[in-house]
Amino acid sequence: MKALILSGGKGSRLYPLTYTNAKQLIPVANKPVLFRVIEAIHDAGIDDIGIIIGNDENGRRVQEAVGQGERWRVNITYLPQDAPLGLAHCVLIAREFLGDDRFVMFLGDNVIEGGISNLIRGFEGSDYHCQIVLTPVEEPQHYGVAELNEDGSIKGLVEKPREPRSNLALVGIYMFDDHIHEAVRQIKPSWRGELEITDAIQWLVDQRLRVHPYIHRGWWIDTGKPIDMLAANSKVLEELKPQVHGFVDKDSKVDERVTVEAGAQIINSVVRGPTIIGENTRIINSYVGPFTSIYHDCHVESAEIEHSLVLEHCAIVDVHTRITDSLLGRHVELRQSDFKPRALKLTLGDNSRLGLL
Ligand code: DAU
Repeated sequence: MKALILSGGKGSRLYPLTYTNAKQLIPVANKPVLFRVIEAIHDAGIDDIGIIIGNDENGRRVQEAVGQGERWRVNITYLPQDAPLGLAHCVLIAREFLGDDRFVMFLGDNVIEGGISNLIRGFEGSDYHCQIVLTPVEEPQHYGVAELNEDGSIKGLVEKPREPRSNLALVGIYMFDDHIHEAVRQIKPSWRGELEITDAIQWLVDQRLRVHPYIHRGWWIDTGKPIDMLAANSKVLEELKPQVHGFVDKDSKVDERVTVEAGAQIINSVVRGPTIIGENTRIINSYVGPFTSIYHDCHVESAEIEHSLVLEHCAIVDVHTRITDSLLGRHVELRQSDFKPRALKLTLGDNSRLGLL
């Protein structure tokens, strides 16, 4: 089998972080979501991977970060897409790479509990033409939605319906055989101008091809919005096996659910897990609370932070209000200012959001 990872798109719901980075490269628990996707695919025994990337700076950033896949011992083929014209459009432009092989398509911004090995094994040994993954959600209108018959077979699929007919959302992991290539040629763009994979799968159902709905019972997160990034971060932190490779001084209290990466230093601080402190990051006279990931080369001093995601090279120094539910991009500085007037002094990128006291 082959794999197709979708890592294009604009990531506009994560502005301003995605002006200067692909959303799939934003780390959860100090590892980019896209790397987690590649690992899940490799763990399932698939090493021939195509990645759809935007024909833009973010596409080049993905290429730079992933390389040829040596790190995971997989073989990567990049497939540039001129504009985000839809998930089914990605299958169209990957035709040559995919050939007539069975493949798994994995959205590069999805994080799923337990990996995909079982799913792949189930599909490989079956005569299904397609396998989709469904899971119950609270707000199905934001997803592709499936309605099932009483015998568990698929009645119909609709992309982001105003009035959903079930609470079963399509998870961003799909398995296909070569019939999908005809399907993506047959469908027309939707009201939002995209070739929807949901419509292509509906076409397979209409042709009476075997489309198997697998119901996923664990957690699954589409990291589209900041709040979803924080949720994914919390879930992955809970699964992490804590390790301490850095230095913790005798005046600090670091509980057993904390990972301290190589070169990190915790000095006179309290760190409560599940939490991860990245390589060469210094935590001094501070409190870091549960569900926080601080990436590499950061400096946190005389500050308090919890339930947050902090990217590399940030400085949080002498901040006297506790920071919570926050997402900080790379090289962000938060410091007490000694210069008058005593006021908030901000340099915020476009589309930044700030919750003041
Ligand atoms: O996450 C699950 C949902 O993903 C499904 O329930 C929906 O049925 C499916 O359409 C999709 O909806 P989203 O609105 O979340 O898709 P999004 O535009 O965020 O794109 C998903 C990923 O695919 C993301 O990593 C960007 C990439 N992509 C997207 C488009 C439209 C591409 O690489 N090229 C594209 O043309």
